[in-house]
Amino acid sequence: MRAIQVTRLDGPDGVAVVDVPEPTPRESDVVVDVKAVGVSFPDLLLSRGEYQLRPDVPFTLGVDFAGVVRSAPDGSGYAAGDRVACVLPYGGGAEVVALPADSVFPLPDAVSFEAGAALPMNYLTAQFALATRAGLRAGETVLVHGAAGGVGTATLQVAKGYGARTIAVVSTDAKAEVARAAGADDVVLVDGFLAATKELTDGDGVDVVLDVVGGDLMTDSLRSLAPGGRLLVVGFTGGAIPEVKVNRLLLNNIDVRGVGWGAYAMARPGFMRSQWDELLPMLERGVVAPPIGHTYAFDEMGSALADLADRRTVGKSVVRL
Ligand SMILES: NC(=O)c1ccc[n+]([C@@H]2O[C@H](COP(=O)([O-])OP(=O)(O)OC[C@H]3O[C@@H](n4cnc5c(N)ncnc54)[C@H](OP(=O)(O)O)[C@@H]3O)[C@@H](O)[C@H]2O)c1
Repeated sequence: MRAIQVTRLDGPDGVAVVDVPEPTPRESDVVVDVKAVGVSFPDLLLSRGEYQLRPDVPFTLGVDFAGVVRSAPDGSGYAAGDRVACVLPYGGGAEVVALPADSVFPLPDAVSFEAGAALPMNYLTAQFALATRAGLRAGETVLVHGAAGGVGTATLQVAKGYGARTIAVVSTDAKAEVARAAGADDVVLVDGFLAATKELTDGDGVDVVLDVVGGDLMTDSLRSLAPGGRLLVVGFTGGAIPEVKVNRLLLNNIDVRGVGWGAYAMARPGFMRSQWDELLPMLERGVVAPPIGHTYAFDEMGSALADLADRRTVGKSVVRL
């Protein structure tokens, strides 16, 4: 079978489609014929040897993917022919993948394989951040940094699914369009986002800030919170890791909360499936509908990763088999 492998750790140039043997499943594994693979930030970091996991080369890329079950053990809840979405730390970018049932999720008939391959990591992260870490309640307002990105658009949609109001923060007008199309109630530019947010909330501020950017946004993000507000630390795409002056927390009874979805979910069998079950009604209502950007051929993963690295992508890129 063919697999998308990292052959040397020098980024997208070292990614190639290689012939490898089909996997030998363990008794408890579900075997999936893969139809689409998502292109994600961890894939890029893995291809450079810069991710927290550093498998020996050659290894197969692919965090998010979707396909059809070829075989499944009794009692797994799956059977041959089921449409599924899946998530792994890496290894999903192959024609056939064997993996534990815990990492497999039912994909409704109305949801395409491309959308399925765009869902798991970003949407399960967003659900974990908003529900588990922030304790989001219907009627609250959520401000989302990097709102046109993968986690950003997922957060806009999941927050909406929970009945929250959303304010998207983006760097350009083109990204404002992406955030609006993803369902943001309001969109503001990152320059001057504090004043714009205060105006949009009649001076009250927001209940939750989700931050994937970090850097110098932190102080204004804390200032944009209403009393009792929660700031969620999800990532540092801006490069710098900010520091927090803790007197700001005391003044308005606000919290800064870390979000580490992978470590939390991997330590709790069944947790990801319970998260997926929270998302299913949102998928069926259409509130959750991942914005698919460019679709690439199976042998174009290297180009897809190069486009991601150069910030040329809009929405989630997907590789089709
Ligand atoms: N903690 C967790 O559990 C968890 C889980 C999944 C992902 N993550 C992390 O979350 C972060 C976001 O992932 P993603 O998939 O949403 O990424 P993405 O699709 O590339 O979006 C990131 C956004 O960050 C903004 N940004 C600001 N400065 C940037 C810079 N210098 N370079 C690139 N982007 C910049 C961009 O929006 P603007 O241009 O509009 O500012 C961009 O849309 C990553 O660091 C990822 O590792 C964390």
